[in-house]
Amino acid sequence: MKTLIKQVSAGLASTVGALALGLSAPAQAQSTFDVTVLAASCANCHGTDGRSPGGMPSLAGRPEAVLNAQLMAYKSDTPPAGTTVMNRLAKGYSDDELAALAKHFSQIKPQATDKN
Ligand code: HEC
Repeated sequence: MKTLIKQVSAGLASTVGALALGLSAPAQAQSTFDVTVLAASCANCHGTDGRSPGGMPSLAGRPEAVLNAQLMAYKSDTPPAGTTVMNRLAKGYSDDELAALAKHFSQIKPQATDKN
């Protein structure tokens, strides 16, 4: 019984320790993100995996540098003339997140049927 109590309290101590560590590192938590989660919200307009079936521009397979430049332009205070929504959307992402999105979509094959 004594051993059990020791084990439980040791377990509690390490849980509290882990919680304290988590709380003391908020900056680190903010800088990590899952690009596939971010990219999922682009699919509503740009198609699944950035392969647009309709009038919306496709993102899949476009050069990373081009996508990144477009996203940064949308985020800037002087977005391209005629921009409707991307200027507002791009402001919701950090530069790192936009760069990761550009890389992510550039690595997707433009057509789902393409052979690897
Ligand atoms: C609400 C619909 C919508 C969502 C969501 C959306 N976009 Fe867009 N996107 C547009 C529209 C519309 C344009 C054309 C520019 C404009 O009018 O804002 C565009 C243009 C673009 C372009 C330029 C394409 C080109 O060739 O001109 C890129 C790159 C882009 N979006 C990336 C993204 C990424 C990355 C996401 C997810 C973070 C995203 N978009 C989410 C609607 C959307």
